[in-house]
Amino acid sequence: MVLGVAGGIAAYKSCELLRRFTESGHDVTVVPTAAALEFVGAPTWAALSGKPVATDVWTQVHEVPHVRIGQSADLVVVAPATADLIAKAAHGMADDLLTNTLLTARCPVVLAPAMHTEMWEHPATRANVATLRERGVLVIEPAEGRLTGADTGKGRLPEPAEIFEVCQEVLSGATTSADLAGRHVLVTAGGTREYLDPVRFLGNRSSGLQGYALARAAAARGAEVTLVAANVALPDPAGVKVVRVETTGELREEVLAAAPSADAVVMAAAPADFRPVDVSGAKIKKSADGSAPELRLTQNPDILHEISTQRVRPGAIIVGFAAETGDDTGTVLELGRAKLARKGCDLLVVNDVGGGAVFGSPDNEAVILGADGSAVDVPRGSKAALARVIWDEVAARLQD
Ligand code: CTP
Repeated sequence: MVLGVAGGIAAYKSCELLRRFTESGHDVTVVPTAAALEFVGAPTWAALSGKPVATDVWTQVHEVPHVRIGQSADLVVVAPATADLIAKAAHGMADDLLTNTLLTARCPVVLAPAMHTEMWEHPATRANVATLRERGVLVIEPAEGRLTGADTGKGRLPEPAEIFEVCQEVLSGATTSADLAGRHVLVTAGGTREYLDPVRFLGNRSSGLQGYALARAAAARGAEVTLVAANVALPDPAGVKVVRVETTGELREEVLAAAPSADAVVMAAAPADFRPVDVSGAKIKKSADGSAPELRLTQNPDILHEISTQRVRPGAIIVGFAAETGDDTGTVLELGRAKLARKGCDLLVVNDVGGGAVFGSPDNEAVILGADGSAVDVPRGSKAALARVIWDEVAARLQD
């Protein structure tokens, strides 16, 4: 693969990205621009990649590097991609080795932009990004936060670990093309908390790993992703808008706000089904006589059921999750089918949680039931792998 580096201060972060690529066994050719070398020198790239580094088309001319490097790549990722590099790529300019490589590459291309907010929002950059996306280039949305100097805003390079995950997703298979480009998807993740007092809550064991894997996979397929995360301690996936919530009530508000513009909603979160009737404004104290307070609970709204019955956006695909154990009333699959009908969603991802092995585990296995009668078995594997199959099922049902 090729790691292109354009001339921005975030070039130093790409050293870590390069390390991750080489440590996971990728053969990486680094192609910095001349400006990138002002920030990080060629010896650093050469040492970390174990290969010579060139920026111009005049080095080792007999090997025709300006054509060969792009032609032989399985993936080209440019991080950081500056406004200038994006403009050149959009217009097919080729005045150095990296821009030549972008013109000759026929493999997937991922650009991770980093620049000041004004540059990212400028109509010229917006148009260039739109052109590249139309051509199938995956342009990751920059993160928000501290920029060079004291200012903050949109334009930060996403964390190298998360850019790495996007590239792994893109490399993971031929079906994961940018088939969700132009789509807005909403994913929920994590477990909600229902407070008893300012310090105590009722919660659950959901880690958010499956929801985050879904968000990552959708972003890598070109979707605009909103991730509503309830109490998740994981880094923001690259290019994903993360909205943090705590309670089921807050989760519901954010879902209802985003649903009208969402082509797909995947409810991977575990919202608490019940909340205390009374929430104490002060910390509940132990009583002198040793008696414990009695908790009265009330049922929370079922968000999945609500959005599935309201259908504010016709044609949107709604996906629920079900953790089942099977009991006297039915097998895991029978209970899953009944739940699919009760909830009114289009797809239900049914996990057998009999052994309790799903929570916090990197792995998962499931059956994806469709309201159309379909059933897709997903054998035990990574949560990323299950996420891919879920998006395959969603993509197959989305209308033009
Ligand atoms: N869900 C929701 N709102 C709730 C509870 C759950 O939207 N208040 C969603 C979850 O995100 C998940 C699905 O519903 O997609 C899980 O269904 P749920 O009925 O909560 O499953 P169980 O808790 O197993 O339900 P039951 O006790 O009815 O079997």
